[in-house]
Amino acid sequence: MTWSAAFCCAVFWILLILGGLIVLIVYLVYRPRSPYMDISAANLNAAYLDMGFLLNGDLTILANFTNPSKKTSVDFIDATFDLYYYNTLIASQYVAHFKVPKKMSRLANVHLVSSQVQLGLTQSQELKRQIENGPVLLNLRGTFHARSNLGTLFRYSYKLHTHCSFSLNSPPSGAMRARRCNTKR
Ligand SMILES: *[C@@H]1O[C@H](CO)[C@@H](O)[C@H](O)[C@H]1NC(C)=O
Repeated sequence: MTWSAAFCCAVFWILLILGGLIVLIVYLVYRPRSPYMDISAANLNAAYLDMGFLLNGDLTILANFTNPSKKTSVDFIDATFDLYYYNTLIASQYVAHFKVPKKMSRLANVHLVSSQVQLGLTQSQELKRQIENGPVLLNLRGTFHARSNLGTLFRYSYKLHTHCSFSLNSPPSGAMRARRCNTKR
């Protein structure tokens, strides 16, 4: 009894250590690097405040997804974009499944429309001033459900969060002036 218990235990530990070693070797061979997102271009096509506090807006964004890994492709199972003016959510958009091959970038067109979104008094006044004189300051939060494929056997899923702050000229010309994006696991 004791002997077979000890034997089972030893086999268990050996299997566990071997499993760990295999995962480590696969990881070191593929050395996946985290994908990230940036804004290549953006345009504020329209923005106006109905009755002084109800925002109607139309923004297009060219999102640039980069997979820096040399050996692993990344599947984006889904991507959700939330647009904020200060901390008020003003528009959302969902982009369905797409793939980024190793060492490649993929562009996605994201159209964010706001319709009669209520803003607070201070924010309404601030936005009115920004629309008239430029620049308009906005925040974009992206949540991505991604899956890295290490060969065909090993794959793992994780979530990515991107936060971008960006500024645009007044609509309707509305080109992007500056942006800063940061992607985290
Ligand atoms: C997308 O991002 C990659 C990596 O940062 C860059 O090399 C590439 O030029 C970008 N593409 C566009 C269209 O901006």
